[in-house]
Amino acid sequence: MPALDRRTLLRAALGAGALGTAWPLFRELGPTAAYAAAAALGASWDAAPFTVGVASGDPLPTSVVLWTRLAPDPLADVQPLPDIVQVDWQVATDSAMTAVVASGSVPASATLGHSVHVVVDGLTPGRRYWYRFRALGQYSRTGRTKTAPTGSVASVRFASLNCQNYQSGEYPGMRDLAADANLDFVVHLGDYVYEGSELGTAYTLADYRKLHALYKGDPLLRDLHAAHPFYLTWDDHEVVNDYSGSRGAATFVARRAAAYQGWYEHLPLRIEGADSALPDPQLYRYRQWGDLLELVILDLRQYRSEQNVTGGTILGAAQKQWLKSRVSGRSGGWHCWVNSIFLSQQKNPDGGYMFTDQWDGFLAERKEVLTYAQQAGIADFVTITGDWHSAFIQDVRPDFDNLSAPVIGTEFVAHSTTSSGYSSSWNTANGPRLGQVNPHLQYFEGNRYGYDLYEVTPQRWTTRLRVVADRADASAAVSTLTSWYVDRGRAGAYEDPATKGSAAQYRRNP
Ligand SMILES: [Fe+2]
Repeated sequence: MPALDRRTLLRAALGAGALGTAWPLFRELGPTAAYAAAAALGASWDAAPFTVGVASGDPLPTSVVLWTRLAPDPLADVQPLPDIVQVDWQVATDSAMTAVVASGSVPASATLGHSVHVVVDGLTPGRRYWYRFRALGQYSRTGRTKTAPTGSVASVRFASLNCQNYQSGEYPGMRDLAADANLDFVVHLGDYVYEGSELGTAYTLADYRKLHALYKGDPLLRDLHAAHPFYLTWDDHEVVNDYSGSRGAATFVARRAAAYQGWYEHLPLRIEGADSALPDPQLYRYRQWGDLLELVILDLRQYRSEQNVTGGTILGAAQKQWLKSRVSGRSGGWHCWVNSIFLSQQKNPDGGYMFTDQWDGFLAERKEVLTYAQQAGIADFVTITGDWHSAFIQDVRPDFDNLSAPVIGTEFVAHSTTSSGYSSSWNTANGPRLGQVNPHLQYFEGNRYGYDLYEVTPQRWTTRLRVVADRADASAAVSTLTSWYVDRGRAGAYEDPATKGSAAQYRRNP
């Protein structure tokens, strides 16, 4: 029933043009009205106190982070709980939780929204585990996770998600991924929540907690977290649209801290070191999947300067130095940047750049790090990107204006999960024009929603664009629109001949 209500509401609202009407879910609505509004969007939760589900994340060879949050009243300002609640946890090698290999008990504190982040260590590399929590006499659902392998790895299969605006649709792609028994992990590229729009706008910690609790009111999102571990970064909407760094003003610094904390409290994030904890958690990190793949996870929001300024930075000095060290010290496996926002140049057919909130607003720094990568002899380089709400596949060059500069890698910009892109008429008219002024662009498709699936072996990187038949329908079919390959040792992607006939608004090589 809830899902049907959400679809019905969306269709009715789109038909009536009513979605611009503010729904002040966070501030002005009392609890009864807030729950009614959430129910109209299809929200429903697990049994209390584990209403928002369970999750695991940031796998290392012998360690994963297990997460839950106690929220018996998910949209309340204050949870009806003591300040400290003890939470027991168990890890087992079977889904029935009979072969328990690790267990413990941790305090959940009101200070952190009664969230729990258990760092489990001493696990076996490359192995599946199951886990659950117990508190207040209740068990949580059982989640499944996996540790990173070590040594020689023959294949890895993972997916990326981005831009999952709740009121813009259902999550059929997540249903598809949760059912994928052969998936190793999920990468989230940001815009996990949107700070506002039709539901009102979040400013305070209580607001962001309710916002995250609303998103966790989607059963398919909870199922996906329970099925696979996540590696996460963020983009802008976890705080507010197009923000830069700390922006200086005290009110913004307080809002950003509230948003960062609300985000941390609802996700399986490993905080490394006292100097990198809240209110400014260090997200950028390096992870390896044996000898096959390395993930260079970037934070392109927290440390950035204003765009289009002399000496501007999207990385910040420390992260830039770290990124260069990761490039020069790379492992020899596929080298993948987890990149929240468009890396490649994107000239506007009408002049200038399309958007300078992306790397195009930081030209000198982009050229510096890509030139550094070229000179370091980078190979087998792939970037996976979110934010744009449309799919782009493109060559990465150290100098996009110099077509004799070598292609050093491939950028895959994924469709959004639900967040609206441009109209189909805009895409049809402008896809070819974007191609004309951006010769590194190979492919553009903007009319669909879904996720990217990556199947990687020592010989070949495969990206499959998985699209949903209808983002307003939680039970919609999910299919592969097109598949692209990069062969080991040869920079540049090419399309599977079998999918070349699929719909797109631009192909460089039709
Ligand atoms: Fe987005």
